Amino acid sequence: MTPGDVVEKWNQRHQEAGSQGSAAQVLLRNRHLLPHSGKALDLACGRGANAMLLAQSALETHAWDFSSVAIAQLEEHARENGLKIETQVRDVVACPPEAASFDLILVSFFLERTLIPRLIQALRPKGMIFCQTFVQEVYLDRGPSTNAWRLEKNELLHLFQGLQVHYYREDGGICSQPTGVSDLAMIVASKGA
Ligand SMILES: C[S@@+](CC[C@H](N)C(=O)[O-])C[C@H]1O[C@@H](n2cnc3c(N)ncnc32)[C@H](O)[C@@H]1O
Repeated sequence: MTPGDVVEKWNQRHQEAGSQGSAAQVLLRNRHLLPHSGKALDLACGRGANAMLLAQSALETHAWDFSSVAIAQLEEHARENGLKIETQVRDVVACPPEAASFDLILVSFFLERTLIPRLIQALRPKGMIFCQTFVQEVYLDRGPSTNAWRLEKNELLHLFQGLQVHYYREDGGICSQPTGVSDLAMIVASKGA
């Protein structure tokens, strides 16, 4: 698959999706940890349910994704809801955020391990990461079909090592009932207290 094919695949998925989707559990469960002000980035935002929530929380919200279809849908939802969100059609691997540019970065269901050091650099002092994605050891077996796109045990803790952890949860194979967080690992961490 060429890079262009990958973008097209995502454009098609977003076109077919039909709704904006729901906000990330790591955000819904930790809204009380959001800063009162500052600049937030929803990285690989998709159709932007998380960006909408961040913008409602009075953060100056930016949302980037390489799918022009996703960004167009997000812009329409933001307009309908009277929310200001700075959008960009942007390949975040080729063009990651600049150093010390955000107070909060949210990454939901987008696992690009090589990018993590750049995300940590992109945080301002006291800046926060909210991150969640699927684990390899599953109960419901939802999410990506390949383990490369899934987290190993405790992997988010390793990837964001050096940050102060405020919240961590991992619901892998040990679940006995399905919940909204089955098969997910979630972290909220900050650069300094
Ligand atoms: C599984 S979706 C998650 C979307 C959103 N974060 C959410 O939680 O609903 C992954 C998103 O990553 C975007 N994406 C994949 N690779 C990307 C890249 N290199 N640069 C920017 N966006 C990318 C896709 O277009 C898609 O919207």
